[in-house]
Amino acid sequence: MGRVKLAPSVLSADFGRLAEQVAEAERAGADWIHVDVMDGRFVPTITIGPLVTEAVRRATSLPVDVHLMIDEPERHVEAFADAGASLVTVHYEACGHLHRTLDRIRELGPRAGVSLNPATPVDALSEIVPFVDLVLIMSVNPGYGGQRYIVTSTEKLRRARALIERSGGREVELQVDGGIDRETAGAAAAAGASCLVAGSAVFRHPDGVAAGIRAIRESLA
Ligand code: DX5
Ligand code: ZN
Repeated sequence: MGRVKLAPSVLSADFGRLAEQVAEAERAGADWIHVDVMDGRFVPTITIGPLVTEAVRRATSLPVDVHLMIDEPERHVEAFADAGASLVTVHYEACGHLHRTLDRIRELGPRAGVSLNPATPVDALSEIVPFVDLVLIMSVNPGYGGQRYIVTSTEKLRRARALIERSGGREVELQVDGGIDRETAGAAAAAGASCLVAGSAVFRHPDGVAAGIRAIRESLA
């Protein structure tokens, strides 16, 4: 497996200086920019939508990784594809017809991912893994940045990695999201995560975005 990717989540950025902060993350070696979309229904909070996603798209040449924490995501995938998403991830728990929604995402252009809440077992993915480009294991309950990593997520990542391997040769990215920092990144990567999302550890680092990215990278070395 190649070098682990880092996907800073703009949820913890300063939105008054969003383009600047995204550019800073890119210069500091971020691989993707993660955009957390919340609807106040699937999760308690409301965050951002296609307009801000488009602003992120304009601010970087990196892949824009859109994480939809919304009910009925099929109603909105086109808007995020039009906004320039490179990848659109939907929640297993939010989709009545997951297979169809993933197909639709790919038809629109972006790659398609599926995410599991902490309480949803990895086995839920067994029928869908052959049809996804990315599996996202939530290591906190979605809804807020700055929460603590749920330690059982490491074992869950291992099971997800094994399921991906079993499902045959396709390249499927295994992403982890929530509570990733210099203390937790190493265990998640060792368990098979190929892409780490980090919000507060990057954008709220006291010494700035570049220092936040460096701290995580160094912990993986
Ligand atoms: C949580 C979001 C995360 C969040 C991670 O619901 O999906 O992407 O921004 O934030 P940290 O890294 O602070 O836990
Ligand atoms: Zn996220």
